[in-house]
Amino acid sequence: MFTAFVLTVSDKGSAGQRVDESGEIIVEILKNNGYKVIDKIIIPDEIKIIEEKLKYASDVLNANLILTTGGTGFSKRDVTPEATLNVKTKLAFGICDAIRLYSLTITKKAMLSRAVSVIRNDSLIINLPGSPKAVKEALEYIIDPLKHGLEIMLGKAYECARK
Ligand code: MTE
Repeated sequence: MFTAFVLTVSDKGSAGQRVDESGEIIVEILKNNGYKVIDKIIIPDEIKIIEEKLKYASDVLNANLILTTGGTGFSKRDVTPEATLNVKTKLAFGICDAIRLYSLTITKKAMLSRAVSVIRNDSLIINLPGSPKAVKEALEYIIDPLKHGLEIMLGKAYECARK
């Protein structure tokens, strides 16, 4: 069973001014797909705090999968992708590319997502959008192939089955 950590990045959510619907949707989808969710926390759009929590989830909690929601748009406070890149050990942009490609079939506004996906040591970190609708669309689209990626990342699988 893979472990997962959910990080909601939202000024309003962290101030208690908005219910964290997106984080709840992520937890539900993860549980339905057999992940053990270690924790879900809400933090403000502050680059140093985001970096610190990503490092904590990876280095201390050893989460296999870390999903963020929020802070990937164009507003001045949106810094989730920059924080994510600052803690990476490797790039894994195929996942954010796939999310954007699929999301573009739903709305052209998907091109406004600056989300990234990376690896930090034994953790895969993926930025998801902020809105509950977008989060559900994006995560349900990528969830199946993630397990194979995690197996390879952790050295549990060495070959892709090509039948
Ligand atoms: N992706 C999907 N699948 N569905 C959506 O409705 N909305 C977009 C985009 N990605 C959307 C989507 C919009 S409107 C924006 S501004 C960006 O994600 C960034 O969102 P964020 O700032 O909430 O993270």
